[in-house]
Amino acid sequence: MEIPYKILGTGSFLPELVVDNEMLAKIMDTSDEWITSRTGISKRHYCVTETTSDMAIHAASNAIEMAEMDPDNIDFIIATTLSADYTTPNMASIVQAQVGAKNAFCFDLNAACTGFVQALDIAMRYLNTDERKTGLIVSSESLTKLVDFEDRRTCVLFGDGAGAAIVSNRQADGSDLPEANIYESFIGADGTGGEFMTGKAFERANHPFIPEDMVFEPDRFGHETGKYLSMKGPEVYRFATTAMPLAVEKAVERANLPLEAIDFIVPHQANDRILQASAKRLGIPTEKMISYIAETGNTSSASIPICLDKEVRSGHIRRGHTLVFTGFGGGLTYGACVCIF
Ligand code: UT7
Repeated sequence: MEIPYKILGTGSFLPELVVDNEMLAKIMDTSDEWITSRTGISKRHYCVTETTSDMAIHAASNAIEMAEMDPDNIDFIIATTLSADYTTPNMASIVQAQVGAKNAFCFDLNAACTGFVQALDIAMRYLNTDERKTGLIVSSESLTKLVDFEDRRTCVLFGDGAGAAIVSNRQADGSDLPEANIYESFIGADGTGGEFMTGKAFERANHPFIPEDMVFEPDRFGHETGKYLSMKGPEVYRFATTAMPLAVEKAVERANLPLEAIDFIVPHQANDRILQASAKRLGIPTEKMISYIAETGNTSSASIPICLDKEVRSGHIRRGHTLVFTGFGGGLTYGACVCIF
């Protein structure tokens, strides 16, 4: 697709409390050495008073400030999360009210860690219709709500945070963008791998008309960790190191670009070893695969926009760079988008 668009602004928010590996090693049977060597994670941020919606509002406000735009000009908000504060109102509507984007329609999307990539893809398709001019994507996750601190195999990996981006087919002042830009994507899923990462929403139906002697089928996925997240790490690892490079290759091919034309890949931050292995599989220098995981751990759908915002604000990613956003996660879901910053 040759859509005239621009990423007008980015934003992020990380809660104040920083928990490093040593702090975790004091409360469970783990070590800085194990976590660093297996994942590349040094620390992560944990919410205390902050909520998922609070973080989303902060990240969205930062992006609006960078875009120097009037929130009235935001036409839609897509929020991504698997750790929302409410099932209703959706997080996008909470953000809309707080940032004053009164003309925006709002919905939430849950594609686990692939959420930002899928939201960006939907946003681009709205922009392509020329009816919806400006979209805010905001991804926020409080994964500390979901992880079991008795389970060292998962809890050391995750953290809390939010990121946002504003995409538009207009300038912030409403005038037309001068030129077309390249945008392509490749999005996929493999529902047969659903059991590799599960988190429970609500319990089954519980109403007065259920017979007392009713025997229920076992859980579809054999989810045995109650309200907590359950993950088969090595299986997810294998999926990630195949699906992510595949999605990148397909998206870049659709954009009709050689891989060398990509300045940076901004991937879902789950494990530095996954990033290194994916770079190797793609045959690209590891410097092009941006890793921010040491600072944040895995923040699910928020990880890509947090990483993007940090790199933009540090000046590492600049205007004109060709980027690939790529993610994978529960579902199993995966995908990649090629776009120009
Ligand atoms: O957003 C997507 C989310 N998920 C992912 O991306 C996860 C992908 N998977 C991974 O990143 C890796 O599989 C992990 C980092 C989760 C685990 O690394 P691994 O090399 O696959 O380790 P493992 O699960 O095979 O466990 C190896 C050993 C086990 O001990 P034994 O059974 O060999 O004695 C674990 O009990 O490491 C042990 N272990 C730990 N030791 C110290 C597991 N967690 C810890 C821990 N500290 N936190």
